[in-house]
Amino acid sequence: MKLARRGIVALAALLSLPAAAAGDPAAGRDKADTCVGCHGIPFYTNAYPTYRVPKLGGQQPAYIVAALKAYRSGDRAHPTMHAQAASMTDQDMEDIAAFLTQAPRHPADK
Ligand code: HEC
Repeated sequence: MKLARRGIVALAALLSLPAAAAGDPAAGRDKADTCVGCHGIPFYTNAYPTYRVPKLGGQQPAYIVAALKAYRSGDRAHPTMHAQAASMTDQDMEDIAAFLTQAPRHPADK
């Protein structure tokens, strides 16, 4: 039942492309998979304690989107995050931001 609802949400997100609508946290959760390794969502811990990264969980969506756009355009210079943001669409950023603003949440807590 829950799964079916998530499927419908994902489908709705697909159909609403390419107009950058409000972020979809369910889609963002999947898109943010790679971010977790470094940013440590949802437990605020990093796999590599000596490698410092900013906390993202609970940030305002607009803040996250602005940061990602700046990395994508190169306004904010950081090779790693530029590589992350380079291939993102505006909708990807909105979705990821919508998810991150709800973090932390346990991965099993769907
Ligand atoms: C390989 C490690 C790594 C991965 C993977 C990664 N990041 Fe980052 N991220 C960093 C580091 C390091 C910084 C700090 C960069 C700086 O100083 O500007 C950062 C900064 C950021 C910032 C700016 C935060 C702030 O407070 O200024 C955002 C937003 C962000 N990352 C989002 C993401 C998202 C979304 C993903 C997944 C698509 C992701 N990151 C994947 C390492 C990573």
